[in-house]
Amino acid sequence: MSTANRVALVTGASTGIGKATAIRLAREPGTALVLVARREELLRELAGSLPCRATCLAVDLTTEAAPEKVRAHLEAEHGGRLDLLVNNAGAAWRGSFAESGHANVARHMSLNFDAVVRLTEALLPLLRASAPSAIVNVASTAGRVARARTGAYSASKFALVGWTDALYAEELPHRVHVGMVLPGFIATEGFPATELKAKALTRWLVSDPATVAEAIYAAGPGGKAERYVPRFYALAAIARILAPGLIRRVLSGGAAGDLTTSTAGDKDADSSTA
Ligand SMILES: NC(=O)c1ccc[n+]([C@@H]2O[C@H](COP(=O)([O-])OP(=O)(O)OC[C@H]3O[C@@H](n4cnc5c(N)ncnc54)[C@H](OP(=O)(O)O)[C@@H]3O)[C@@H](O)[C@H]2O)c1
Repeated sequence: MSTANRVALVTGASTGIGKATAIRLAREPGTALVLVARREELLRELAGSLPCRATCLAVDLTTEAAPEKVRAHLEAEHGGRLDLLVNNAGAAWRGSFAESGHANVARHMSLNFDAVVRLTEALLPLLRASAPSAIVNVASTAGRVARARTGAYSASKFALVGWTDALYAEELPHRVHVGMVLPGFIATEGFPATELKAKALTRWLVSDPATVAEAIYAAGPGGKAERYVPRFYALAAIARILAPGLIRRVLSGGAAGDLTTSTAGDKDADSSTA
């Protein structure tokens, strides 16, 4: 059993933003990490490279038994202590609704929303018992602004954003801070953003996982409620409310035609979905 001052659990820690977050959190003295994803070898490799204690749990978070497995791991390794839960695991599979239908919406909801809700439900008692503690949900700018061919991904992230806002208010009296991070285009394994990076005109739109990890730290232990990465992406969310007609025109193939056909975070095609 660990003697750490703080226990943090990161889902989707095998690559990208989750891996960068584990590396960032490991810098804090007295931290012990629990790394969760499906690919055990990658988790073990990461755990071995960190300057703090880190245990690994290879599990598919969309399976029925996953939340209980994660909880049992925390009970066994840390006596049920949990100071920070980073709900980061997620994916995008691009396709118009006519092509990909309800099946694609359900696939996104299962990982990007239901799995997060189910894991949080299982771990909330531990977070409350360890309070002051924190949850960080990794949403997306696509949870505020939707584009063609990423409607299913956006639906799952819009759901996550709404649920996170409610959870923030509900858990405040229990001293469980609930923060949210909304990344834009971040070059990772699942979201390569190759097309955007290839052109000088759009390269500046793509950020890196370490920058998101800093925002996750700020939205968790740092106590911030919400962080866009990069920060100017907040303007897209504001414009969607203040000038919806303009945003619709732009995202339907006007000035940002390139962006509507290019979705960062797309495993089935190399494009850009945020
Ligand atoms: N990169 C971007 O442009 C961007 C923008 C906005 C939001 N985001 C969000 O950021 C989060 C992290 O994405 P990323 O960019 O870092 O992508 P990534 O490198 O593809 O990482 C996704 C992580 O989720 C894990 N994962 C996927 N399915 C899983 C499952 N069923 N059970 C358990 N773990 C699973 C993957 O590990 P295994 O394959 O080993 O399971 C991996 O560690 C996602 O929620 C994504 O929606 C990303």
